[in-house]
Amino acid sequence: MNLKRHPLAPRELRWSRLDQRPAIAWLTGLSGAGKSTIATAADRILIAGGRHSAVLDGDNLRLGLNADLSFTPADRAENVRRVAEVARLMAEIGTVVIVSLISPFRADRVLARRIAGDIPFLEVFVDTPVSVCARRDSKGLYARARSGAIASFTGVSAPYEAPDEPDLILRTDGATVTASAEPLCTALLQLSAR
Ligand code: ADX
Repeated sequence: MNLKRHPLAPRELRWSRLDQRPAIAWLTGLSGAGKSTIATAADRILIAGGRHSAVLDGDNLRLGLNADLSFTPADRAENVRRVAEVARLMAEIGTVVIVSLISPFRADRVLARRIAGDIPFLEVFVDTPVSVCARRDSKGLYARARSGAIASFTGVSAPYEAPDEPDLILRTDGATVTASAEPLCTALLQLSAR
């Protein structure tokens, strides 16, 4: 390929400027599980606490960077790969990155962790049963999937492989958003402290 990695300014310079260390929290779970809500709440808490953080949200990214991708297993894998690469780039800058992506396949999430390299990586399972997600149906997608209007919908007509050994499990049924986000914030504040 005739490519050679170009050495960049040492990341420690940037990290010490920001007075923090980066980390990646990878939120996986069904559509409607509460991933984006928790990610946004945690992000706000971290910012208020003086951290430099950001959210990479699946829906948002599929409106831009990943607009060319469908929901086949291959395209979901590519979705995960791209987002993991972006998360890694942002983490190199020093940012605490919270990823919110269904990422239904274990193998894809293993790859995401590998891409993160030596950046601390937390696999966070937003564990909301499909019955609860379908009852919430915040975007009306479960009803459409069940009527056949959406093909290969995760939890209805496409598989979701729950993590075997997540670093963190967040349950949302009957919990407030702040309560669900709290363990995530605690972990990220700890990891990003200098
Ligand atoms: S992933 O499987 O590739 O990780 P991602 O998190 O980027 O998914 O996007 C999921 C979002 O796309 C859902 O929240 C939902 O709004 C929308 N969506 C549209 N079609 C599907 C589908 N077939 N399966 C799952 N989500 C879908």
